[in-house]
Amino acid sequence: MTKSKEIPVQDYNIYLGDSQSAIASFLDRNRPSKIVVLVDDNTSVHCLPIIKEIATDGVITIPAGEKFKNLEVAQSIWDQLFTLKLDRNSLLINLGGGVIGDMGGFCASTYMRGMRFVQVPTTLLSQVDASIGGKLGIDYHGLKNSVGLFKNPEAVFVDTVYLDTLPYVELRSGFAEIIKHGLIADEDLWKDAQACGDLKSVSWQKIVEDSILVKKDVVDSDPFERGRRKILNFGHTIGHGVESVMLESAHPLLHGEAVAIGMIAESYISNQKKMISDQDLKAIGNYLIGLYGSPSLQEGLYDDFIVKMRHDKKNRGDEINFTLLESIGKARENCQADAQLIKESINYYNSLS
Ligand code: GLY
Repeated sequence: MTKSKEIPVQDYNIYLGDSQSAIASFLDRNRPSKIVVLVDDNTSVHCLPIIKEIATDGVITIPAGEKFKNLEVAQSIWDQLFTLKLDRNSLLINLGGGVIGDMGGFCASTYMRGMRFVQVPTTLLSQVDASIGGKLGIDYHGLKNSVGLFKNPEAVFVDTVYLDTLPYVELRSGFAEIIKHGLIADEDLWKDAQACGDLKSVSWQKIVEDSILVKKDVVDSDPFERGRRKILNFGHTIGHGVESVMLESAHPLLHGEAVAIGMIAESYISNQKKMISDQDLKAIGNYLIGLYGSPSLQEGLYDDFIVKMRHDKKNRGDEINFTLLESIGKARENCQADAQLIKESINYYNSLS
């Protein structure tokens, strides 16, 4: 087995490569009092077998899906941590996508004022984004991640072998964050992403690493999202608005599908504010529509999108906060756009279908 590559982030390492051996040597060095693995219905079947022998003191299983990232399920996790008699020196291994990582980290950080935890992200989205940067939490009062904290895990183990277990649409959804990382901070990554074609025969290691390096650089420079970290929000202001509204409709969108729409609309706003060129706007739209298709958004829903956008934690007062593109590979945080321009940007997206 090849040794994993170590990527230092703040006070911990991301280990990129074979997770079995990397976790085993982490455990040798760190010797927790007990080891428990948190999984969901999917990762218990598809991913747990890969590291099963490591779960020496128990497995906690929760239902899969964002709708279970709530207080009730968090409470059931805390209950099981107590039942298993874990102490602060025990280790919780969060094996799954963003929901498992965010909620498992949240429960571990608050149990007994904080037990140890590591992240083993199994989706593309969590490998390149959610597992890095210490954001933990649950959804509350219908608002995503509205109760939580910043707290780093002791380590993150990224193993692209888990990507083989993902349905294509989930892989494509996570890929939107790689595209975003290229657009906001790394023009070569944007070009490499486009070279991945329909994602059916990608060798993941390098592009995952390059994408992690963008996120690492951003969170190292601004761990608590006071300034520069907001660039990671590109595509997410309109994307989250669209995602939340469509979640309640007959045609829900995956996170990355909504972010792809958000990236087109926010590129349009960037262009209207004389930031990116017409040519770049066209290239971004063509590429994203080619990969994600173009589900049309009814004009009657635009006001609902804007209501949801106003709930974003990054807003101040009444203004809706955007990250826009200055050029491909360079983003500017704390930009504003009014409701008229936001609606126009969604019209632009609709016009591409
Ligand atoms: N996913 C955006 C962030 O971690 O800040």
